[in-house]
Amino acid sequence: MNRTNPINRRNPMNPIKMAGFVVTAFIFSLGLVSAAPHMKTDTDFYPYAPSLLKWDKTTAEFTDPATCGECHPEKYEEWQGSMHAMAFKDPIYQGELNLAREEAGHDTARLCEGCHTPAAVVTGEVKGTPDFKGLSPLAMAGVSCDVCHSVKDHTGWQTPYHQPENGSLVLSPGREEDGEAMLTKYGPMEPYDGCGDDFHTCVQSKLHTTSELCASCHQVFNARTHTPLEATYQEWKEGAYSTHDIQCQDCHMVDTATFKRSADQFVKPASGEHRHYFNGANLLLYSMTANAAQKAGNEALAANAREKYTMAEARLKAAAELEVSGGYTNGRLTEIHVRVKNVRAGHNLPTSLTNIREMWLEVTASDGTGKTIISTGTVDDRGKIADGAKIFNTMGQDANFKFSIHPWEIETFSKKETIPPKGSRVVVYGINPEGTGPVTIHARLQFRQASQAIAEKLYSLFPDPALAEKTYGVKQLPMIPVVEMTSTTVVLKDQI
Ligand code: HEC
Ligand code: HEC
Ligand code: HEC
Ligand code: HEC
Ligand code: HEC
Repeated sequence: MNRTNPINRRNPMNPIKMAGFVVTAFIFSLGLVSAAPHMKTDTDFYPYAPSLLKWDKTTAEFTDPATCGECHPEKYEEWQGSMHAMAFKDPIYQGELNLAREEAGHDTARLCEGCHTPAAVVTGEVKGTPDFKGLSPLAMAGVSCDVCHSVKDHTGWQTPYHQPENGSLVLSPGREEDGEAMLTKYGPMEPYDGCGDDFHTCVQSKLHTTSELCASCHQVFNARTHTPLEATYQEWKEGAYSTHDIQCQDCHMVDTATFKRSADQFVKPASGEHRHYFNGANLLLYSMTANAAQKAGNEALAANAREKYTMAEARLKAAAELEVSGGYTNGRLTEIHVRVKNVRAGHNLPTSLTNIREMWLEVTASDGTGKTIISTGTVDDRGKIADGAKIFNTMGQDANFKFSIHPWEIETFSKKETIPPKGSRVVVYGINPEGTGPVTIHARLQFRQASQAIAEKLYSLFPDPALAEKTYGVKQLPMIPVVEMTSTTVVLKDQI
């Protein structure tokens, strides 16, 4: 069986952990319990387990994105500078991957790489390699053209959770005909003679027009316990957009105005409106890519990444709305209610790495004399959010109820507080304005992708600092950008 050893390999002699292991092994051998038998991975069916990738192996090879870009220059340009293009090079990912390899072993690293650079996992090129040296452009390209367009199917029905997850894609870059390799590319269009200009044939794929294409990678589970860690697909599926046939593509593969229309009116974009932006919330990587490209003299990529930054900011600013109202007891204002509405995110807000992302309320209020009566959610110079702030996120914990951010350790959560699509949450602040006149409230919803401390910690785990500097053009991780998603100022009567 292809399981990750639960023991911390750095410290194999830890007596407490060893004792636990012996007891568990004993119980296993008695057959009294087994680790969630219904969640077992069929390792014959999934040869890359714990990654659930599959490969239709023939002599047809994968193609690097620059080659696809020769005939599809617009798609190439749109995809470049996107997080899919960065999925393997991302220094935060590389830092965490390095730790995964050390603490949980190579199997776990393969799980990670099965989503962050799938083609290089099935070809065997990437095997938990600790740096970028000697890797092909295809491996470096992460979630590249030929990953998505070689997807023939997914095996969601056969995964431990019976839905797409942990990379459950079938990659089929081509087939063999009369001993010759023939490339096949799967896409949304009906094929016609000459589609693919003799370089590839075209195959129409319904899967490419639905969220199920994205689901296998945007549902991340702890491979050992099968705890859901990132559940963007599930959140979408349970929400209003899936029932109105608004798929991931209809918000993430279109420009900002079209995304807003999809979200507000549930109107599907026409096929010609789709773009390969895959724009999300990773402002740090867009800005680091822009800076590194600028330093390397690649003006086009720098401009491209800056545009993605602007787009991501606009997306975050469109996602939520705030409503402030008063709660009165015996005619006196005693509570301030701030409602946070998820108006345009197709999944929970925030989503995916919710145990690392931070979305929080900054609220200040002053009474009739100008005296501050509430101040919460401010950030200091070193990037620390003041204690007691209302943060929308999740907090993971390991088997011993200990806080953890690592996907191979997290087994449960001590907190899960995110806002469903078209849903809302109300936060209540108690006050005592003592009859001095109207109360002025300023509320802001703030977002950043990680706390400064966590981002710096992960970046510091990158195995080769000199290479990191060369690749990203910085010695130290810059400050994580904070985006004001929305804000409002409201004046409430202190008595009614
Ligand atoms: C099922 C697919 C999948 C697997 C398996 C997976 N990831 Fe990811 N990972 C993602 C996706 C999708 C995102 C992007 C989520 C987002 O940005 O909101 C991501 C984002 C990340 C990020 C955040 C990067 C940033 O710049 O903020 C880190 C770090 C990361 N993954 C590390 C890992 C490690 C380490 C493993 C293995 C233990 C792993 N991932 C396994 C799909 C996966
Ligand atoms: C994350 C997955 C993904 C990646 C990576 C990706 N695509 Fe696509 N692509 C799609 C999807 C989904 C569609 C269908 C969108 C729609 O419904 O129209 C599509 C559509 C297309 C089409 C046909 C539609 C048209 O408008 O002509 C072409 C050609 C294409 N992609 C080429 C590329 C190239 C070239 C790259 C790399 C530079 C690339 N794709 C990267 C998912 C992807
Ligand atoms: C020699 C030129 C050429 C190269 C190289 C090329 N394509 Fe195409 N491809 C075409 C043409 C022409 C079409 C027809 C439609 C169009 O222009 O978008 C097409 C169509 C497609 C479609 C639409 C298929 C459908 O049925 O929806 C996809 C997807 C696609 N290509 C992906 C790729 C990918 C991925 C690569 C790299 C592995 C690639 N192409 C390399 C010329 C090329
Ligand atoms: C082969 C796996 C894979 C597939 C398929 C895939 N993604 Fe991703 N996606 C990733 C990974 C990995 C990342 C994160 C890279 C990182 O942060 O380092 C990502 C990042 C993203 C981001 C950016 C997140 C951010 O924080 O900025 C968006 C948006 C996104 N994907 C949307 C989609 C959509 C829409 C589809 C389907 C059309 C899709 N993805 C299909 C693996 C995949
Ligand atoms: C109705 C529009 C809409 C749909 C549908 C939608 N999204 Fe999003 N998505 C957004 C908005 C708005 C944001 C920015 C706010 C946020 O981070 O949640 C976002 C953010 C993201 C992020 C970045 C989260 C982060 O913190 O890094 C990822 C990854 C993502 N979406 C993937 C998906 C996937 C996969 C699907 C389909 C299962 C999907 N989205 C469907 C609107 C949408």
